[in-house]
Amino acid sequence: MSHVVEGISSSARVLPPVDGKMLSIVRSEGPYLFADDGQRYVDTALGFGGILLGHADPAVVEAAGEALRNGSLPAFSHPGEERAAAALARHLAPLDKTVFTNSGSEAVHLACRIARRATGRGRVAKMAAGFDGWLDEIAFGNVTTPEAAFHDQHRPSNERVTLLRFNDFADVERLFAENDDIAAVVYEPMLANAACLMPAPGYLQHAQDVARRHGALLIADEVLMGFRLHAGLTSHLFGLDPDIATVGKAVGNGIAVAAVVGKTDVMDSFHAAKGLRGGTYSGNPVACAAVEATLGQLETADYDALIARGDALRVFIEKAFADEGIAVRTTGYGSVFSIWFADEAPDDYETAARLAAPQLSLRLHLELRRHGVLVMPSAYGRLYLSFAHDDAAFASMENAFVRAARAFATATD
Ligand SMILES: Cc1ncc(COP(=O)(O)O)c(C=O)c1O
Repeated sequence: MSHVVEGISSSARVLPPVDGKMLSIVRSEGPYLFADDGQRYVDTALGFGGILLGHADPAVVEAAGEALRNGSLPAFSHPGEERAAAALARHLAPLDKTVFTNSGSEAVHLACRIARRATGRGRVAKMAAGFDGWLDEIAFGNVTTPEAAFHDQHRPSNERVTLLRFNDFADVERLFAENDDIAAVVYEPMLANAACLMPAPGYLQHAQDVARRHGALLIADEVLMGFRLHAGLTSHLFGLDPDIATVGKAVGNGIAVAAVVGKTDVMDSFHAAKGLRGGTYSGNPVACAAVEATLGQLETADYDALIARGDALRVFIEKAFADEGIAVRTTGYGSVFSIWFADEAPDDYETAARLAAPQLSLRLHLELRRHGVLVMPSAYGRLYLSFAHDDAAFASMENAFVRAARAFATATD
């Protein structure tokens, strides 16, 4: 009997047994996970995006270890916190004031609080089916909830949160026509947790323009996408200008850390209004050392090469299935993407919900796992790639996908 509910603390990370055996990972290094039975897997879950340099990156381990040895919780100000914040600011200008948190969910929660304080308005709008954390308020309208699939004229709302239909230009205007108390629009550069739904050209810019016109702030939730496509925000790469952003996952390369970064005037007005921020572990030396060591490497990392390899893998996967007569499409960006068992790629949640095929996604997970590759088992899952995924890891993935496609074809013959 397990003493941990379902054997693991996050319901998103439950895996099915294979041949009656549960997976138990005892070690991870570079692109690989090692199970208690000695089996090695190429990892594409990568800590659900929390690893970008590769597992147990030596420089991050060294920096975090040194901070741990020096005492991990001094409670009071320590120089590592300013150094980590300065490292973030170097890449996120004009967002140059930081508050560290321990998780992305906390960061989004704080970002919404800051926006409410700065505007004096009570409600935030998030993208229906977007995942901006698991805390009560912002989990409203998460992917697979009934609210996520709302239709016109029936916008699900409560006092604190309301929803926007992703990629629906007219819905942005409607939202502000219906509400005069929107403090901020929270958006992601893509709806990653709805299986990488891409923004339509101009959609996020339109949402930003309309929000600004109505005095609302823009919160870029880049817990997942921050530092994933370049050493900075994906929003900035797209020419967007958020007032506040949340980053996490990749910035600590496996150490629990996230942050809210904001424009000075917004953050100063929150501070002046004595807005509450806290957390026993927020900004602790180990987390800050990990951020500094990670960003130090991401500054010179070859993102173009990683994205090109990811794009090539996506083409390879689609072709491997096409060769077996099975239509597969992928959506996302080079180093984070999702797989659809369909001949069209969805660009809104309605289509995504229609095309999602949980049984096939689970089957793909099981087939690949038998061939030494771990992917998330859910229809709305993603594959991540790291800078440690080398030729050998890519070759293993290609081999496993060819075998999985063959197995799918055999079963449907
Ligand atoms: C876009 C986005 N925002 C927020 C979060 C929440 O972050 P955390 O799991 O660190 O609380 C996640 C986690 O997957 C995420 O993908």
